[in-house]
Amino acid sequence: MSDLKAQIQGIRDAFNQALGQVEGLKGLEELRNHYLGRKRGIIKDLLTDLRSAPKELRPELGQAVNRLKQAVEAGLSEKLEALKSNVSSSKEDGIDLTLPGIAPELGSLHPLNIVNRDLIRIFERMGYEVAGASEIETDFYNFEALGLTKDHPARDMQDTFYVSDEVVLRTHTSNVQIHLMQEKKPPFKAIMPGRVYRKDADITHSPMFHQVEGLVVGEDITFTDLKGTLEHFLKKLFGSDTKMRLRPSYFPFTEPSAEVDVTCIMCGGKGCRVCKNSGWLEILGAGMVDPVVFQNVGYDPETVSGFAFGLGVERVAMLKYGISDIRMFFDNDLRFLSQFN
Ligand code: PHE
Repeated sequence: MSDLKAQIQGIRDAFNQALGQVEGLKGLEELRNHYLGRKRGIIKDLLTDLRSAPKELRPELGQAVNRLKQAVEAGLSEKLEALKSNVSSSKEDGIDLTLPGIAPELGSLHPLNIVNRDLIRIFERMGYEVAGASEIETDFYNFEALGLTKDHPARDMQDTFYVSDEVVLRTHTSNVQIHLMQEKKPPFKAIMPGRVYRKDADITHSPMFHQVEGLVVGEDITFTDLKGTLEHFLKKLFGSDTKMRLRPSYFPFTEPSAEVDVTCIMCGGKGCRVCKNSGWLEILGAGMVDPVVFQNVGYDPETVSGFAFGLGVERVAMLKYGISDIRMFFDNDLRFLSQFN
């Protein structure tokens, strides 16, 4: 009969060992069932065995089983408390409420997108629609229709990537002007943001860069409309203190043409390194649409007039944020990009 006693001791040892290895609530529940289960629990079995033990030994053995049962219950509830207060050990449940959370990483807009959106928003508020077209373009839409005939010397102004003799990577978003005018009847106002390409690379030029161009056509559109529009735009973009000046210039698709300057946004016009002590920064090209362009799209130059302008998004962003090397926009260095939240 010491047989049963030894068995009880063995069960106690096995239980303690198993308890020490339990790692989660699920495991603990399994252990409880294994020992205290009403139908098949080990202790239930012991009590059954007890009935066949000699009568004189039964009280003592009964007490031993009871002590075992109490020890098992005590062990289980102690462990339960321990698990509850230290959820981190419940790997088995797959959830550790004590770990620091995984904070979602926040992205931010690319500085060029910030500036691009700002530019678009200013013109949308003035009632402009946003238009686009292909970045791979035929010679006709990129050059010819804009007055840049094949032998025109002004083609040298834009170092071009040729896909074939007749197909180019567009050198400006002016190609959209031609598509728009072929599709629409005046009057309309549109801006044309997009990627453009030129064979040019140094700290202020990138072979791929972004432009926003604008086109307004209708009847009786005059140079004063151009001037007023650009002045409003530049004050919105750089602040209401900004002054604007126009200098005579040349583009094959506008006549007259102007180079548009703003008072230096670094020094306010006093003169500094950025404006090379002139107090002015060149920011836009603009002009009245050349009648030849209207002819090329089938408009009557006698009744239709309009103006166009174009600017580089990188240039605006470099000035606004004081960035001296255009390549930083395209290096995708997070230390740079995360500064523009
Ligand atoms: N298309 C010209 C360029 O890229 C900019 C421009 C647009 C100038 C419209 C005048 C009018 O250089």
